[in-house]
Amino acid sequence: MSPFALTRILPEDATGAALRADVLHGLTGTPKTLPPKWFYDARGSALFEQITELPEYYPTRAEREILITRSGEIARAAGARTLVELGSGSSDKTRHLLDALTDLRLYVPVDVSESALTLAGRALVAERPALAVHALIADFTAPLTLPRSPGPRLLAFLGGTIGNLLPAERAEFYAAVRALLSPGDALLLGTDLVKDEGVLVRAYDDAAGVTAAFNKNVLTVVDRELGADFDPGAFDHVALWDADNEWIEMRLRSRRAQTVKVPALDLAVHFAAGEELRTEVSAKFREEGVRTELAAAGLELTHWWTDTEGRFALSLSVVG
Ligand code: SAH
Ligand code: TRP
Repeated sequence: MSPFALTRILPEDATGAALRADVLHGLTGTPKTLPPKWFYDARGSALFEQITELPEYYPTRAEREILITRSGEIARAAGARTLVELGSGSSDKTRHLLDALTDLRLYVPVDVSESALTLAGRALVAERPALAVHALIADFTAPLTLPRSPGPRLLAFLGGTIGNLLPAERAEFYAAVRALLSPGDALLLGTDLVKDEGVLVRAYDDAAGVTAAFNKNVLTVVDRELGADFDPGAFDHVALWDADNEWIEMRLRSRRAQTVKVPALDLAVHFAAGEELRTEVSAKFREEGVRTELAAAGLELTHWWTDTEGRFALSLSVVG
């Protein structure tokens, strides 16, 4: 079997220290918030995989369609010997890229979810004896040091996960990505596109309630890690379209007045009946906006592909 290495960049207690800081900041602010990366413990990652198979959740299928039709072109334009993927999750769609990148020597999946990386990495090396996989448990919003790897490098950020960052965080992220890349390297970015509000809202509020369970899982994480006594059943899942910001906003609405204790922070948090906690945004994009934000970081969009229904886009920016 080919080599599979797993390097932890996040310290073992990162969940401890960073989670405590984020939860303290988020639950004492107005409005209350919780940051999205804490959705993805083993259960959260498994629930996300279920989301990708829901009839309402089109982004995964739309992006897969583009990868199936365009991976050859992407491979020719990028010529990569190393593929780095941020927020790689199951690496499932990535297989289309791995098939097309004929000169590939190393795949570096990067994710906060150790369970997702281990499952994906083990499956990949078993399937592909010639592929070296070096997985990194790391936070892609923090400065990232990559393992020594042959260029050119292709850095992929799929799934529309870029939309989970707020505009200022996106600007910082693009600048950090640009700094990681050298001439001849490229960024492959998946962006979900602005479309009919009903289609968007249903993608984040499915009939089977999987997205609701995923959203509430963040409460379960805080309960387990910080000894809190959130009752997920005391909150309703809310997904709404913010037309000004062009993003879907995920919230948890308190069903009644309640006080939640967070012993690890020595904190008691009061929720009024109907009060909402913001857990995640998922921004939707237009070509011009993506082009402009990339350009502000010194990245020039060289290719733009959408699925046949125009729901989702993949763009490639090759560094000159
Ligand atoms: N790329 C996959 C998964 C998308 S879900 C797909 O397209 O289906 C988002 C992924 O990003 C999850 O696997 C989650 O664990 C990871 N993630 C979220 N925030 C992160 C962060 N700050 N740093 C690293 N990984 C993160
Ligand atoms: N990157 C995914 C997206 O924005 C994450 C996601 C899908 C998500 N459904 C969700 C995050 C529901 C929170 C709640 O499409």
